[in-house]
Amino acid sequence: MADISNITEEQAKLELEHIAHEMAKADIAYYQNDEPYLTDAQYDELKQRNIELEAAFPHLIRPDSPSRKVGAPLQSGFGKIPHRFPMLSLGDVFSITEVEDFVAGVKRFLNQSGNIDFMCEPKIDGLSFTARYEKGIFVQGATRGDGKTGEDITANLRTIKQLPQRINGDVPDVLEIRGEVYMSKADFFALNQKNEAEGKKIFANPRNAAAGSLRQLDPNITKERNLSLFAYTWGEVSDRFWTSQIDFFKHLQQWGFPTNPNNCLCHSIQDIETFFNNLMQIRASLPYDIDGVVYKVNDTVLQERLGFLTRTPRWAIAHKFPAEQAITTINNIRIQVGRTGALTPVADLEPVNVGGVIVSHATLHNEDEIKRKDIRIGDSVIIQRAGDVIPQVVGVIFEKRPSDSVEFVFPHTCPQCGAHAIREEDEAVRRCTGGLTCPAQAIERLKHFVSREAMDIDGLGSKIIEDFYNEGIIKTPVDIFTLQERNSGSQDDLFSQHQGLHLERREGWGKKSVDNLFSAINSRRTISLPRFIYALGIRQVGAATARLIAQNFGSWSHFAQDMMNKQTEKLLAIDGIGAAMAKDMVEFFQEQHNLDTIEQLLKHITVEDFVDNANYDSPLSGKTVVFTGTLTSMTRAEAKAKALSMGAKVAGSVSKNTDFVIIGADAGSKAQKAAELNISVLTEDQFAELVK
Ligand code: IVH
Repeated sequence: MADISNITEEQAKLELEHIAHEMAKADIAYYQNDEPYLTDAQYDELKQRNIELEAAFPHLIRPDSPSRKVGAPLQSGFGKIPHRFPMLSLGDVFSITEVEDFVAGVKRFLNQSGNIDFMCEPKIDGLSFTARYEKGIFVQGATRGDGKTGEDITANLRTIKQLPQRINGDVPDVLEIRGEVYMSKADFFALNQKNEAEGKKIFANPRNAAAGSLRQLDPNITKERNLSLFAYTWGEVSDRFWTSQIDFFKHLQQWGFPTNPNNCLCHSIQDIETFFNNLMQIRASLPYDIDGVVYKVNDTVLQERLGFLTRTPRWAIAHKFPAEQAITTINNIRIQVGRTGALTPVADLEPVNVGGVIVSHATLHNEDEIKRKDIRIGDSVIIQRAGDVIPQVVGVIFEKRPSDSVEFVFPHTCPQCGAHAIREEDEAVRRCTGGLTCPAQAIERLKHFVSREAMDIDGLGSKIIEDFYNEGIIKTPVDIFTLQERNSGSQDDLFSQHQGLHLERREGWGKKSVDNLFSAINSRRTISLPRFIYALGIRQVGAATARLIAQNFGSWSHFAQDMMNKQTEKLLAIDGIGAAMAKDMVEFFQEQHNLDTIEQLLKHITVEDFVDNANYDSPLSGKTVVFTGTLTSMTRAEAKAKALSMGAKVAGSVSKNTDFVIIGADAGSKAQKAAELNISVLTEDQFAELVK
């Protein structure tokens, strides 16, 4: 081998390419086919040479370099991959009327009266993935995760034959292809048959089987499972040269990605309806499961103008197939107590197969619903499930009611803590008044606190939270952050109860799992403002509202100070926050107990100020804008969405905190007020220029 100090750049480049190819072949032979074709020594020699060449020529490091690759099966958990472009979900509709409303909404938003073309695609019931290509080479793959961060499944995706490892031709330097991994019905049945014979896990449906097969720490298992995929959208792209969804599909096909043969461009709502009905007819005969149709505005320019809501695009929607139904009996009616004390009745059912999924519980919503439908223990009922929603009871089959049946009496005390359960006027729910003394509420709040969109602490699942609460190990969120300290106990205290929790001695635990838990907790000692606000579990404050608050208040101290001082009007000034929500927020901060817990918590964690990364440089970032009058080149909704997407806050009225007032035709008192307060006024054209 040539001495590295003597070789030219050109030689180094060729050699690096050679090594990458050789080692990739060797990896496949070794990890996937179980028949190595290099000896360990030969393999290590290549690896070492690669390291040396890369050290001497760092600018020649290849995206598919062996030094960057996960050659071996991952040992402990999946790595996390932040999505540079979030992986969104879709809004759901269940009827053609709602589809018509969606189409009308799109037209209104765009101020367009003519027809708009929609791409109609079967909605594959699988697992979404994203696959990143750099200079045409597959370098990284991830699951959707929570939409912002996914799990690293690069090694697993490599085992799926339908995914090109390399794409040729006209390819952007950076190209993220997204789609759905699924298991065909035939492969699903074969897998279950095999697993049954071997006494292994039986999967409820192809989707679960696909998920269980893709999220395997050992990619060899993924490989055995024979997964398939369809590609349907893109993430980050360095040069997006396609101009429509249908154009994109043509490129996908050229690049070698499987696309669904039933995808179809529709020009009118009639076309859309026909497509939906036809697809429903052939649904059962398709070799894979689908659960509806996705409609996407075809033109990418229009897609961009429409933009996004918090978690879903405005330019696409999922039209789900009607729910599937079955008949079964109610064995019991249980009352669950939620985080806010709400008592929710749940029916325990005789397990029944509904469209491929075994269902054994259904929600009964609330006491009025039970009364209205006259649902009783022992009744035969029709139940239905649609998509991922909790199965529901459609109605009772009264002819089958047992003669000794009695009406269900909804309890007026909490079944968990015995406190009174009261129902406020105008409220459908009855709530336990036990507050935090009610163990059920405390446990649910803890579960919410650690959940994915809140503090996102891995390793504190529902069962562990329940056990830890019941054993007095974690009673409040603060206890989570003192767990590690309390675990080992103090050396001097050998004879008292301060000998430490020693979680590693628990059954089924060990040092490794305890260490993992502590590192998960420690990695959340610094937390973003939206997550922290959401984690508090204030009634009505979901993740989207928490983000809105963070964006408007900027820091925890500003928000908390204003809430303690009952600055309700500051909340009401935010477009998207109403009076009821504002009231709940202010009330939360009047409760001494909440303030004490937060004060304790802030001794252990740091809440970051809000920074809107995506729009850091925008001229509107952090500015408060108000629109008034009629806009002509875009609709009000479009203008507002545009401003929000650039990091602005949109307020409903002009105050001294307003930075810009955008004035359309026939502007009234707001324009006058802006002049009085000496606030910058923009014409519609100036605004359009600013956000271009
Ligand atoms: S487009 C912003 N197209 O449905 C675009 N999604 O409910 C988002 N899905 O997470 C996705 N088939 O897992 C799209 N042809 C299709 C799809 C599809 C199935 C899944 C996907 C997504 C979920 C949204």
